[in-house]
Amino acid sequence: MPAEALVARSNPNPKLPTSSSSVSNLPALRRQAPHAQPSPRPALLMCAPKVYEVSYVINPWMEGNLGHSSRQRALRQWRNLYQALSSVAQICLVEPRAGLPDMVFTANAGLARDGVVALSSFAYRERQGEEPLFRRWFEEAGYMVIDMPRETPFEGEGDALFSADGMRLWAGYGFRTALSSHAALQRIWHVEVVGLHLVDPRFYHLDTCFAPLEDGSLLYVPAAFDHASLRKIEAFYPAEKRIAVSEQDGLAFACNAVNLGRRIVLNRISAELEEELRQRGFEVTQIELDEFLKAGGAAKCLVLKLTPSLHCGSNADDPMRAELLEV
Ligand code: ARG
Repeated sequence: MPAEALVARSNPNPKLPTSSSSVSNLPALRRQAPHAQPSPRPALLMCAPKVYEVSYVINPWMEGNLGHSSRQRALRQWRNLYQALSSVAQICLVEPRAGLPDMVFTANAGLARDGVVALSSFAYRERQGEEPLFRRWFEEAGYMVIDMPRETPFEGEGDALFSADGMRLWAGYGFRTALSSHAALQRIWHVEVVGLHLVDPRFYHLDTCFAPLEDGSLLYVPAAFDHASLRKIEAFYPAEKRIAVSEQDGLAFACNAVNLGRRIVLNRISAELEEELRQRGFEVTQIELDEFLKAGGAAKCLVLKLTPSLHCGSNADDPMRAELLEV
């Protein structure tokens, strides 16, 4: 893949490197030692399900659910998630667009870190129309936007998750993101990128079956990975740090969890798993998100981690927010 294909096309934020650099000559980004200074309030990107529905099938969860989602119910569930997360994070909103029902799953917008975003290049045409809308949002918020090439699909944080210390990027492939996109991620952030091969179509994005938690442990569905990937996971996370979830919890999207500090926000899980997480010191908030399971997503798919120091772009005080939060 030619490095020139990955071009940063925008840089409205003067603190960041100049706009026309390709990914091969990006200046090294300053990386702060973890815990070197009090961490700012985390920031997340969300998109209200105002146009949400299941109107096509691009994963096994959507099969049989065409036209079977309730927008009212989805809005109520999303609002509960929004409220739970706003107690621990700043929430930024991107405006949805009619005809793009999956835009609500902002985890797939891209992968953001240190003011740079690797903008997704969706595998399916059905979602490619989201790309320019997310691009505009990131540009307005001051990110350096790097396009991932169409030939090497990449579906953002849905398929790429940093380890708790931020030194390693776990990157899924097999269903959506192409293995060949991983090299570009390494060039952008100069981190070690480790590929994980997804083999069960129900767990088609890495964040459906793999969640590195901030205390250095891991929530995961072992059966979603091939043997070589399991060996990599086991080599990095010692046994006491690995929390293998049951099939039942896996299928309830237990690994699709948003973890900020000690707080974990996720869909409904078993009493056993909840107890295990509490024993490990987490505060668990369960939110019914079954309307989103119909499209193959839950809590973590509905948010994207942002760079906290960047503001929310032009929509920080959007009246949409007040309207959305009215019951
Ligand atoms: N229907 C969406 C799709 O198939 C769901 C995306 C879920 N997102 C995620 N990060 N796992 O693309």
